[in-house]
Amino acid sequence: MKQKLVVFSGAGISAESGIPTFRDKNGVWGKYDAMKLASVEGFEEDPQAVLDFYNARRKNLLEVEPNHAHRVLADLERQYDVTIITQNVDNLHERAGSSKVIHLHGELSKVTSSRNRLDSNCIKEYPLDVPIRLGDKAADGSQLRPYIVWFGEYVDDLDLAEYLVKMADIFVVIGTSLVVYPAAGLVDYAPLEVPKFLIDPGEMKQGLPFGFEHIKAKAVEGVDVLVRRLEEMGK
Ligand code: APR
Repeated sequence: MKQKLVVFSGAGISAESGIPTFRDKNGVWGKYDAMKLASVEGFEEDPQAVLDFYNARRKNLLEVEPNHAHRVLADLERQYDVTIITQNVDNLHERAGSSKVIHLHGELSKVTSSRNRLDSNCIKEYPLDVPIRLGDKAADGSQLRPYIVWFGEYVDDLDLAEYLVKMADIFVVIGTSLVVYPAAGLVDYAPLEVPKFLIDPGEMKQGLPFGFEHIKAKAVEGVDVLVRRLEEMGK
């Protein structure tokens, strides 16, 4: 039986692929108003501005590649039963070869209904280079919108994510500021007795969660430190 290695990732893992994080210097929310561009109210008020914002991020995804950190996590599937729980809406984990990826905050590569975001008849893959336009309709006839969890909206698969973290033999947090809930609360479900690592070049605003080893490095360098630590631990 392979040990269960559960990874919880955030924007930091994709930073070295050229996708800006949200709250760092030059972060997205330093330039754009999150409540205007990532909320239902913002979409109702100015749908064109919201569509322009996400269409640009969708197109940008075609211009970036997974980095060494994404690839190492995919490679670890040879030794471990790896599950990636990500807050990221990019598809870089999948493009690096990770076979089990749960997106808590949605996916840029998909669209859905603006009447009922969770209507499975309306959720579908949508080419990243095809802009979502005002007037484009979902299967239920409503305006098409990006399949993204906006602030204040229900977070997908949270129960499953909590269960997987509880069942982890090894837990790794990488590239997230742990300030956005309920996702950030996942760290509290990791079993006390299992090895827990946090890979981040910065200090955690709310302090390092209890029992975690802080690998103070960027993702690309940090994953190599992680692999060495796991070898040292004979894990
Ligand atoms: N490697 C690893 N970590 C990095 C790197 C890097 N190269 N560069 C920055 N970081 C770290 C930062 O120190 C910070 O702790 O990544 C974290 C990024 O934090 P945020 O920008 O807050 O991103 P994230 O935690 O993923 O945001 C959570 O907020 O805006 C919403 O829905 C959005 O999913 C997102 C959620």
